[in-house]
Amino acid sequence: MGADIMGVAVFPEQAGSVHVTELAQPGPGPDEALVRVRRVGVCGTDKEIIDAKFGTAPPGAQELILGHEVLGTIEAVGDDVTTLRPGDLVTATVRRPDGCPTCRAGQSDMCLWGTYTERGILGAHGYMTESFTEHVRYLIPIPPKLEPVGVLVEPLSVVEKAYRQATLIQRRLAVWTPQTAIVLGAGPIGLLGTLLLREQGLDVYTLARTSAPNPAATIVAAAGAHYVSTRDTSFAELRSSLPNVDLIFESTGASALAFDGMESLGINGVLVLLSITGGNGRQDIPADAINRSLVLGNKVVVGSVNAVTEDFSSGVRRLSRFEHLWPGLTATLITERLRGFDDAHRIAEAATGGVKTVLEFDGSAPRAPH
Ligand code: BGC
Repeated sequence: MGADIMGVAVFPEQAGSVHVTELAQPGPGPDEALVRVRRVGVCGTDKEIIDAKFGTAPPGAQELILGHEVLGTIEAVGDDVTTLRPGDLVTATVRRPDGCPTCRAGQSDMCLWGTYTERGILGAHGYMTESFTEHVRYLIPIPPKLEPVGVLVEPLSVVEKAYRQATLIQRRLAVWTPQTAIVLGAGPIGLLGTLLLREQGLDVYTLARTSAPNPAATIVAAAGAHYVSTRDTSFAELRSSLPNVDLIFESTGASALAFDGMESLGINGVLVLLSITGGNGRQDIPADAINRSLVLGNKVVVGSVNAVTEDFSSGVRRLSRFEHLWPGLTATLITERLRGFDDAHRIAEAATGGVKTVLEFDGSAPRAPH
């Protein structure tokens, strides 16, 4: 019998139903660890779930525990665990495989059957709890010096996968030395994408609606990228002022931008689409021009979702690089800290005007970035 613990839940069918609930916490199985939750990030997907546009409860349950961006400390491990020890900091991956061929081959992020589960999103409880258990294969160690930013590994893993996809796709070319990139959107994914592409040495233009100054614009500038507000410069104006655009990440949440991105992509370029757009919006698009330019320019448009362990691990390494290049900068993505269960009802309005909201669960004051 496990102890009862608290968790932040929704009724997935009911918009605005965030509440604190209780659930049983069993001890870890032989290959599992019990993780005490320190901090959980809130993202656009959580907001879609809160608005009842996305998300399902586990089979037989009414409630879904939210949260898929976690930083925690191992509290106990099962008898067969040798790779992690109590006290270790970890994050956890999100998706759990079904039995499809790609999942069985270790690529649950490319699941063919679509019957996977995702913790905190689809059919499995998430991490906005006092603690959770998980098989150690889904836990990623975080070095102690990355404690202030470890909660960003999950969103960074999404960008790592996006970049990995672009790189794999561009093996079609005998040479690909990307110089110029556009990032559409300056939310957490857009900003982490900006940092990654800057770390890779690209000239990066990050396009967002809000005029500078604002926290996102400050981060973009500090990483040596260019923040462009659509209030001052249109996407078309930006594109016409740039050399060949080799890579675009789309992360605005507005599907119209995906089509603008197709028009803006340079010869041999790759556009990676990352926005999970709810709703059934329709667009009037210049279909002939887009089609022609994709064909004549050998351009690739690719969707990318989720990430696997490899992307989480490269995200951890990348965070260390970010700290080396721009000490303390990545932590400034966290613009709002809420108190775990006390402020749970406020997560629906999280990050208005800011970048990333986190819920603090361990009761201790956040440490200053190194
Ligand atoms: C998560 C992904 C997940 C996707 C769709 C995103 O917010 O980061 O892990 O696959 O939502 O559910």
